[in-house]
Amino acid sequence: MKKIGHRGVKGYEPENTLVSFQKALDMQVDGIELDVHLSADDELMVIHDETIDRTTNGKGFVNKLSLRELKAFRIDDKHKIPTLKEVFDLVNQNCFINIELKNYDTAEKVVSLIEKYVTKKEWKYDRFLVSSFDWNALQQVAFLNDKIPIGVLTETNLDLAQAFAKFIQAKSIHPHFHLLTKENMAQMQEKGLQVFPWTINEIEDIQKIKAFNVNGIITDFPDRI
Ligand code: G3P
Ligand code: CA
Repeated sequence: MKKIGHRGVKGYEPENTLVSFQKALDMQVDGIELDVHLSADDELMVIHDETIDRTTNGKGFVNKLSLRELKAFRIDDKHKIPTLKEVFDLVNQNCFINIELKNYDTAEKVVSLIEKYVTKKEWKYDRFLVSSFDWNALQQVAFLNDKIPIGVLTETNLDLAQAFAKFIQAKSIHPHFHLLTKENMAQMQEKGLQVFPWTINEIEDIQKIKAFNVNGIITDFPDRI
């Protein structure tokens, strides 16, 4: 069963920072999850919200600020918003990277960056997993490069998500953990889908979902798994 660190190790370090991803690696995760938005000058930035207000000392929409402007703000004394490239280089294939596309505009850029790491640095496609609640964005990824592993996110409709996942030949399905039962878990796995629910942090929830023979768990506390 795979341990996947949510936004790095959100339970221990500031989310979506290099220190958070490094700590996830130190905890020997199988994968990290992160979120991406595009800057005004089309750089892929690793940040959850569409604004920088909650997580930095600045204000404004990510897509209205340039890379240089975004890098001037601080998450804390030591950390700035990382680019996706910086995270790829830190991880250096030591675990897989689950890239959550926060909107459609990021799809093409993420595909290009993955292709660059595969062709120029000889990374394996299985070091990546692109997920999104925006299924149009996932369809675009599949259209541009069908070798990139895809994960279908849902927090409401598991049946529809399964049908869509089969349609685009996704590798995995990422449901909110409250949607899961032993029966629907088996049903998804029989269809050849891996199941990576989120975000499971409490020990009793982890134990319950583990007992369903889940393929992996996305958590803020990888050491609890
Ligand atoms: O990838 C699963 C999870 O991260 C989705 O929700 O809001 O934490 O990005 P959120
Ligand atoms: Ca996410």
